[in-house]
Amino acid sequence: MDAYDVVPYDSLPIRETHPEHLAVLGRLYGLETPDPQRARVLELGCASGGNLIPMAFYLPDARFVGIDLSAQQILQGQRRIASLALGNIDLRQGDLAILGEEDPGEFDYIIAHGVYSWVPESVREALLALCRARLSVNGVAYISYNTLPGWRMRGMLRDIALYAARTGDTPCAKARAVRAGLTRLQAALGDLGALSARYLRAEIPVLLDNPDSYLLHEYLAENNTAFLFSDFFAAAERHQLTYLCDAELHTEFPQLLGDAAEAALADIDDAITLGQWLDFVRARNLRRSLLVRDDAQLGEGIDLDAFTQFAFFADLVPPAKLDLRKAKRIPFRRPDGESFDVEHPLTKAALVELCTRYPDAVRMNDLLPAASQRLVAEGGERYVAQSGELFAEWFALFTRGAVRARLAPFHHRRNSTVAPRPNALAREQIDAGEAQVTTLHHEAFTLDASMHKFLRSLAGTPPSASAEKTHWLEQFARYGLLE
Ligand SMILES: C[S@@+](CC[C@H](N)C(=O)[O-])C[C@H]1O[C@@H](n2cnc3c(N)ncnc32)[C@H](O)[C@@H]1O
Repeated sequence: MDAYDVVPYDSLPIRETHPEHLAVLGRLYGLETPDPQRARVLELGCASGGNLIPMAFYLPDARFVGIDLSAQQILQGQRRIASLALGNIDLRQGDLAILGEEDPGEFDYIIAHGVYSWVPESVREALLALCRARLSVNGVAYISYNTLPGWRMRGMLRDIALYAARTGDTPCAKARAVRAGLTRLQAALGDLGALSARYLRAEIPVLLDNPDSYLLHEYLAENNTAFLFSDFFAAAERHQLTYLCDAELHTEFPQLLGDAAEAALADIDDAITLGQWLDFVRARNLRRSLLVRDDAQLGEGIDLDAFTQFAFFADLVPPAKLDLRKAKRIPFRRPDGESFDVEHPLTKAALVELCTRYPDAVRMNDLLPAASQRLVAEGGERYVAQSGELFAEWFALFTRGAVRARLAPFHHRRNSTVAPRPNALAREQIDAGEAQVTTLHHEAFTLDASMHKFLRSLAGTPPSASAEKTHWLEQFARYGLLE
């Protein structure tokens, strides 16, 4: 029986695979990527559709196909699709290795997250061939894989997990044995100062925090092969696919690793060699590579004109005190705790404006008047004309994921928080007892038990009000979770 039928994978939204994100990155490199709102999207190894179904829900005019070997996971996804009455998505049980021969469809975006490293070589080859054969001429394929040499550090944990799992005869017993083994190891490490002990102390809690499905399919999987980035690139080239960029754009830039990395790698002018050295510096263990067809028309480097035309959105909390009269670095915080220093007063003013409009996506031309007004009102008029500085800093914020972009502006019609109810997808996810619901910008929003209960209780009538519940309602509305 298929291992994923026995223990299904926890299938969640993966932000970096969203067609809007892939479209924006393609445009940044000069490719005329298809409109994500009307795109044809294929996901290989889609599990139960935790990534694809929310895309289909929030992009009703796009079309989605998902393929997975595991009948059980596909059935689970098909049930959800039927319950949501989605007519723009089809999940099929099948082997991606033979799909190429069967299905003549063409796709604008092809996603394979968590598949390439976890299948035998013949399936990897079929996956690349399928991407080349089925990708439309301006389309983008996303393939993630474990990378060398960084993954070798995790390989140490895989060796330990495989050893500990020997005593288990079922998947559940194996997962229990791995947890017990890791807990024992954690205790035994105590406060040993060795480099290996410090690494294991940091990684073990991360593993223990993950569900059994992750332990089983990541650390105990029969196939788990990591690759040098340069070898992945060579494999893609053999299939007439070209490397576009990484879905985590900040990883492309040595300067984000500091002055030392920038200086030491400055003489490398080939993007693939540079990417390889960046992996060495970071000891990177996972890559999310974007590929295009070798006959796709790319520009020369980054197209900054295209960048200025994007519509931006940002889920950031501005600092409580913001002085727009002088250039001084001050942090804006993301809900996940990461913070981003912003220096130029015009950037700060534009960012404050953008944050207040979240989840809307706004072009810079439409944002600037309000930002300039705010700047003048708060004593920063001498910075108003410095749009060059603004764009330089804005681009840095974009590469680091603080500011995100779509091809076209987007306005979310805020639904009433007076008589709210969860949207159909959120309703489906909470009714299934899931702790996370998917936002309209394709992120997993985690609900604690009280929030979960409250969201579930909303039935289109005025809810009982308390300061806490009012705050939750605002959050739900902000993330597009209400009908
Ligand atoms: C590690 S899981 C990743 C699932 C999902 N993409 C994610 O990241 O959440 C790998 C998935 O690939 C599927 N898979 C493995 N070999 C496959 C094949 N030959 N054809 C189609 N799906 C396959 C498995 O059933 C499993 O659902």
